[in-house]
Amino acid sequence: MDKKYYDSLSENDKLRLLTICLSGVESPDSAMGCYAMHPNDYKDFKPFFQKALSQYHKVDLSVNSHKTNWDFKGAKGLPEDGKLDMTALGLEKVSMRVRTGRNLQKFPLPGSMTKDERIKMEQEMKKVFDVLIADKNYGGKYVSITPNHPNFINKEEYDSLVKQHIMFKDMSADKYLLAAGIAQDWPHGRGCYYSEDKGFIIWLGEEDHLRIMCMKTGTMLNEVFDRLKTAVDVVEKQIDGGCAKSDEYGVITSCPTNMGTGMRASVHVKLPNLCKDGTEAKAVEVCKPMGLSVRGTGGEHTPIVGGVVDISPSARFCISEAEIVIKLYHGIKDLMVKEKAAAAQ
Ligand code: ADP
Ligand code: ARG
Repeated sequence: MDKKYYDSLSENDKLRLLTICLSGVESPDSAMGCYAMHPNDYKDFKPFFQKALSQYHKVDLSVNSHKTNWDFKGAKGLPEDGKLDMTALGLEKVSMRVRTGRNLQKFPLPGSMTKDERIKMEQEMKKVFDVLIADKNYGGKYVSITPNHPNFINKEEYDSLVKQHIMFKDMSADKYLLAAGIAQDWPHGRGCYYSEDKGFIIWLGEEDHLRIMCMKTGTMLNEVFDRLKTAVDVVEKQIDGGCAKSDEYGVITSCPTNMGTGMRASVHVKLPNLCKDGTEAKAVEVCKPMGLSVRGTGGEHTPIVGGVVDISPSARFCISEAEIVIKLYHGIKDLMVKEKAAAAQ
């Protein structure tokens, strides 16, 4: 933003904009440096967010716009048989995961929720989880880390779910989420639904109200993607007041890095040559120009354990959902060529 824009705001809006920027002020090394506090922020502070979105996502919003599309039909790069088959890339079974973020229209975004609102949202979402639990396609259960919640799980159970990549990490250990107020009131209003087969999961009360994901160890990326699409439709239909979306920007998320699709599609792979020094430095150097992000074995801001690296396309905005998963497929294909080449170096 520039000072002229800031000065043009009312005192109240100045305060709102400063709150949005709290994490970036606290950590000047941030990649994005801000989080929306309310779905309307993207509209109310358009001169700020439009710039943040176009600079971070490298899109010119005067010629591009975001369109939601989960359909593979017509998506470029789809193999002729429509199958995103990892075995065709010479890989055996891998752990695949596709997640998207959703926020309930009727609550403020997590950075500005009160403790009561966090708890109320968890109570209201019970109805949605009950529908899933009663559905033979999903079943499973809801577990909570809210003290005194009827489905409360103890630390041992929580740690075990984190280790299985089902439950999310302690948010109060994340300096960005803390500075933005998103980790406030931890662990109140936090929990997780998981299906009987543990392949369909919904996080409640993390960086977005909901993170909805499908996960599977297998070879066909289509399976996790298709299951997620079906499940997201079921969930959205059950939510009173619906989920926050923008005609211009697509799905609304707390962090502008996730805007548009809210989608991160990843696989866990081993890159013994690119990671032979035990760090992701070389893999990042190779992946960045390919539009791929490298994360540690336990997700964002975690180290690589046992050589397992999390690879996902970086793009979320002005790209369709179908294109993201196709991009992951081709990204892994190209990355495996680089991994082989690194053996000789
Ligand atoms: P997000 O993906 O929601 O941005 P993280 O990067 O913290 O958040 O990852 C969340 C969890 O999902 C972590 O436990 C991470 O290891 C796990 N995860 C991500 N990708 C995969 C995958 N392909 N297979 C298994 N677990 C995964
Ligand atoms: N706020 C941090 C930054 O600006 C993280 C951004 C991306 N990660 C996320 N979980 N939203 O660097």
